[in-house]
Amino acid sequence: MIRNVCCIGAGYVGGPTMTVFADKCKDITFNVVDVNEERITAWNSDDLDQLPIYEPGLDEIVERCRGKNLFFSNNVYKCISEADIIFISVNTPTKTKGFGAGKASDLKWVESCAREISMYATGHTIVVEKSTIPVRTGEVIKEILDSSQPKKRNITFDILSNPEFLAEGNAVNDLQNPERVLIGGSNQKAIIALHNLYKKWVPEENIIHTNLWSSELAKLTANAFLAQRVSSINSIGALCEATGANVKEVSRVLRGDSRIGPKFLSCGPGFGGSCFKKDILNLVYLAHYFGLPEVGNFWESVVELNNWNQNRMSRIILEKLFGTLIGKKIAILGFAFKANTNDTRESPAIQICKSLLEEGAYLKIHDPKVSKRQITLNLGMPSEDEYIENPKFSVLHNEKKWSKYELIDDLFNDVDAVVILTEWDIYAELDWHEISKKMRPPGWVFDSRLIVDKQKVLSSGLNLWRVGDGTLNENVF
Ligand code: NAD
Ligand code: UGA
Repeated sequence: MIRNVCCIGAGYVGGPTMTVFADKCKDITFNVVDVNEERITAWNSDDLDQLPIYEPGLDEIVERCRGKNLFFSNNVYKCISEADIIFISVNTPTKTKGFGAGKASDLKWVESCAREISMYATGHTIVVEKSTIPVRTGEVIKEILDSSQPKKRNITFDILSNPEFLAEGNAVNDLQNPERVLIGGSNQKAIIALHNLYKKWVPEENIIHTNLWSSELAKLTANAFLAQRVSSINSIGALCEATGANVKEVSRVLRGDSRIGPKFLSCGPGFGGSCFKKDILNLVYLAHYFGLPEVGNFWESVVELNNWNQNRMSRIILEKLFGTLIGKKIAILGFAFKANTNDTRESPAIQICKSLLEEGAYLKIHDPKVSKRQITLNLGMPSEDEYIENPKFSVLHNEKKWSKYELIDDLFNDVDAVVILTEWDIYAELDWHEISKKMRPPGWVFDSRLIVDKQKVLSSGLNLWRVGDGTLNENVF
């Protein structure tokens, strides 16, 4: 009988997932633990605007459950020792050094969890891989758990794989109404124990059981397939721009084919987020490791196309602004990797803004949920007011400058261009006639998310470039 659950990792997955679990399983205690004290303090903040992760609807559920059957703490060892089930939900980024650097997953955080569990677990514990990991990681975890001589200490473990499929910005809905839940493993008793937790709100036909390796590989594959669709439509978008076709119309035709399906056909600046790139690179690494270089090369091209697409955006902006950005001001709308999240990991905005700064532009950045501190970290340079506060920076980063704006109306004065990088709803409703009066002519709007109304922008006298829209290309006849 499951009475106590521990989740190691209070990040984008661990926090929201356990919050929804706690809401659905009121008779069970959920302890979400993390080594990051600042993050745990934020999860425990009375002011729900200070939660470390922004997800629509999350704050209400946290408020409902926190302190009742949902607890956030740094007390990792104690919570491990009390748990019947432990979810490992820690980061698994790409290795940056050593063998496999740039492709293989860095499993040091998963390994440290396994070591902590092996030291502090008591009785029988089900260990669940929630993190996305390379296929056959279960083997490694088992070896580490067994290394603490569990039999001598009268403790036993079962290992399950239960990858998470939530998409940021829609996490609460994805967790409350998952299209499928995947449980991989070999011990039926353990599988049923986890199955019974989900059964409290997920229809049983949506809960899939597989062996451990299929489950681990299916997660990597799902992300690779999704990312591949984004690269596919982005490649066609570039072709549309060159030929006078319109990617929105091409997508509409594709959507009408039930074999292709309606989703993930939006052209954009390239996929971002913490997972697509790292998970595909991990798949590439595995393919090469298992002696399948053709498979590895096929998947690597999805990432290469994405890198090319992101670089393409900054090159187009530079070309349209007469080949130089020195002395020019550019308004950047959106820094998160997609709408409805404060996450900027691998956001296309990072690379695009860095290139524009490198060319000498002054950036005025707006995002409804991303903090100035986060942008400073991502761009690797302080904002203009921080330069002023700390004169040492102005020597280091002479020409490169940016500011973060909280109010969107203050952003457009004297700018040469507006670049939309995230599809926040507010950017689709801007008054281009008013904005055009504030901009320095000839003003440009670059819409990398296809959200602005073409007629409204053009009738305001501004120039418009939209991703995948070849009808705006005057060189095409
Ligand atoms: P994250 O970086 O937001 O959170 C991970 C947390 O784990 C961090 O707060 C870190 O401090 C903590 N941590 C690391 N080692 C620890 C340890 N030994 N003890 C206690 N805490 C520890 O990462 P995330 O976005 O939540 O992703 C977690 C995993 O889930 C990754 O494998 C990722 O691929 C996968 N995933 C992520 C998403 C997503 O939308 N972000 C979706 C599905 C799957
Ligand atoms: C993705 C998957 O959708 C989740 O199922 C998975 O659990 C998660 O990765 C993970 O493993 O981390 P996420 O990265 O949060 O979720 O967001 P997506 O909605 O998949 O978007 C990823 C990127 O692709 C974003 O930059 C988005 O703007 C871009 N995208 C998506 C497009 O450019 N076009 C589309 O049609 C769809």
